[in-house]
Amino acid sequence: MTQFQGSHILSVNQLDLDSIHTIFSVADRMAPYALREKRTRVLDGAILGNLFFEPSTRTRVSFGCAFNLLGGRVAETVGMAASSLSKGESLYDTARVLSTYSDVIAMRHPDAYSVREFAEGSRVPVINGGDGPNEHPTQALLDLFTIQKELNQGGRGIDGMHIAMVGDLKFGRTVHSLSRLLCMYKNINFTLISPTELAMPDYVIADIENAGHKVTITDQLEGHLDKADILYLTRIQEERFPSQEEANKYRGKFRLNRSIYTQHCKSNTVIMHPLPRDSRAQANELDNDLNSHPNLAIFRQADNGLLIRMALFALTLGVDSQLEKYECAV
Ligand code: CP
Repeated sequence: MTQFQGSHILSVNQLDLDSIHTIFSVADRMAPYALREKRTRVLDGAILGNLFFEPSTRTRVSFGCAFNLLGGRVAETVGMAASSLSKGESLYDTARVLSTYSDVIAMRHPDAYSVREFAEGSRVPVINGGDGPNEHPTQALLDLFTIQKELNQGGRGIDGMHIAMVGDLKFGRTVHSLSRLLCMYKNINFTLISPTELAMPDYVIADIENAGHKVTITDQLEGHLDKADILYLTRIQEERFPSQEEANKYRGKFRLNRSIYTQHCKSNTVIMHPLPRDSRAQANELDNDLNSHPNLAIFRQADNGLLIRMALFALTLGVDSQLEKYECAV
């Protein structure tokens, strides 16, 4: 039995390097099931409550598919209007009821700390799929898993690396969670590139500095990419702005395309983005002309999300040691 069995996954702050290594080692064991080379029914009879009160493609669908690939079934609730939350029901009451119907719940909600509030009423493990501008712990885990794999392939490691985070660092919850995971490693150089108004929150910067890492803060892309091992781009999180007009002020300020990449980055800089990237002409923070570049890791990140979410289900439901026992014909 691991520390995860029966536990909520709400924040990266509840993790340490040992627990991250446990998740990654179970994620590695999920690859043959995700690739359909093997099949397991280890979660046969189990139900995932997949509650998404904000738009999502990757997180929602990969949570569902991860559960299906382990043999379980998925009950979806999509959108606030489809839930009695829109009639004024509390998160606590919703959790008390839905946790009777499910064995584990994944949830996304527009408000910071809402998933934690929900978890207080839940009788089954709750996994945070993104709570407003606060955290996105499963994305941070898949990002870290990807960083480790991408750097290791080139003989590099996470300790001592340079990472440039670019875009809306104020509202981009993935960079908040990823920064905190990276704090557990040694001597990382963070370059935080954003419009001044969308800078990384002070409390995240304090966490990075208190962990002994170097931080450079700038509103300029060019001149700050030449040392980056990882270039992590984010979109303007328009849904957190009071109006489209306000968000439009910042769209298109930072764009990466093949020409800028070739001119300003090392030849082995790994390009990451949690997705979705905003492909509208006025934004286009990551151009399609990089789609075939071997250093573009954005779709490998999404692939890794399936493995990480399969691992989290296996660990929270305590079946990580039984995958092989429940294997069946492909
Ligand atoms: N990265 C991510 O959270 O994507 P979705 O919003 O599509 O789930």
